[in-house]
Amino acid sequence: MSQPFTIRCRDNGPLVMPATVQVVDADGNPFPIPPGKEVVALCRCGATKNRPFCDGSHKAMGFTACEKATPPVA
Ligand code: FES
Repeated sequence: MSQPFTIRCRDNGPLVMPATVQVVDADGNPFPIPPGKEVVALCRCGATKNRPFCDGSHKAMGFTACEKATPPVA
């Protein structure tokens, strides 16, 4: 069984995923991902000037979000 696709919630920052993902707009048109990128970071603070991608603006606006997943019950 292959590894599940992982989206990482970076503390106080974007959602980060492998650049193998295809990000599309509401019409299904893909956003270009620059060749050679290993990860894609999607903005979740709303301050980016490059939607839907993170441009680092979350740092200047003081975005805070440190959600932690509940560990699975053994
Ligand atoms: S999360 Fe980085 S600019 Fe919004």
